[in-house]
Amino acid sequence: MNEQTNERAVAPTLQTMEQKLDQSLRPKDWDGFFGQTMVKQNVQILIEAAQRRGESLDHILLYGPPGLGKTTMANIVAHKMNANLKITSGPSIERAGDLAAILTNLRAGDLLFIDEIHRLGRAVEEVLYPAMEDFALDIVIGKGPTARNIRLKLPRFTILGATTRLDLLASPLRDRFGAIFRLEFYSITELQQIITRSAEILKVPLEPGGAMEIAKRARGTARIANRLLKRARDFAQVRADGVITEAVTQESLALLNIDALGLDDLDRQVLLTIINKFGGGPVGLDTVSASVNEESNTIMDVVEPYLLQLGFLDRTSRGRVATPHAYRHLGLTVPAQQTALFENKTEQKSP
Ligand SMILES: Nc1ncnc2c1ncn2[C@@H]1O[C@H](COP(=O)(O)OP(=O)(O)O)[C@@H](O)[C@H]1O
Ligand SMILES: [Mg+2]
Repeated sequence: MNEQTNERAVAPTLQTMEQKLDQSLRPKDWDGFFGQTMVKQNVQILIEAAQRRGESLDHILLYGPPGLGKTTMANIVAHKMNANLKITSGPSIERAGDLAAILTNLRAGDLLFIDEIHRLGRAVEEVLYPAMEDFALDIVIGKGPTARNIRLKLPRFTILGATTRLDLLASPLRDRFGAIFRLEFYSITELQQIITRSAEILKVPLEPGGAMEIAKRARGTARIANRLLKRARDFAQVRADGVITEAVTQESLALLNIDALGLDDLDRQVLLTIINKFGGGPVGLDTVSASVNEESNTIMDVVEPYLLQLGFLDRTSRGRVATPHAYRHLGLTVPAQQTALFENKTEQKSP
């Protein structure tokens, strides 16, 4: 075994560390779950209605960028329904038989959480359709001319699906959900609440100014807020007296190259590539992804949603375009053709 594999076996990977942090800070009930008011209210109504009627819950699909609370919400729903939560994900169900095995092991009222549900294979999806609609499993017994179809009855269960990419979900699958909710980026105030709660759980002294500073740089994302809180805590302990103040936060985040709006190296690289290499765009996602040496899925899931939200990026039919806001944020002069592009756009929009 070489040194690298050895080290890997000993040190937890970044991902598992992040998962642990996620888990330790994940609220178990609505009182620790801030924001997402619309989704929260709707889900609460679904739960209460199902309980009053003594029925199982409708299948629910949650979508939105990573780190906004999809998994957390699934856990809270299970808690509120007093139901058993089984967790799986699109990529981990490889064959139709794997899903059939999961489904036949469900009991009435169970919740099956399928994360990254857009990554289910076609054959697996086909098993899911009758399961979701009729609580039935169609299986073929035997081969060739003697093959027979039989239909097994499944208990009434609920699928909770989560995806970062609603656009990649086949429409027959989408149509089988009774309710589809989009999770939104959090406001600064909501992020402050999330950070303050997390600091209490982690038992770190946090000043309001520190919470504010982290909130401003958390890209509207709960997971990032918690991650930055942890980094600020490390910095506070090593370079200061342990208290997360505004100044401590600013220094620690500057050291991580996270700017005032929360943009990190990858975000800036994406924008600068579009601007410097492709004259501000339009440029195709794959070209950007090759230039910055990052998977296009990562750029689409993690980088773009926040840049779009900030109005720094525009998705056009011909590709990605950096907006004048992006130039200004990066301290660059906006070229005339870019200003013209966006002025034209505004004109076209108005009647
Ligand atoms: N509304 C919320 N209030 C408090 N903490 C939240 C909220 N949403 C997410 N979090 C925290 O952010 C982290 C990531 O949430 P998670 O549910 O795993 O996101 P997703 O599944 O959408 O990627 C979790 O640790 C969770 O505690
Ligand atoms: Mg998740």
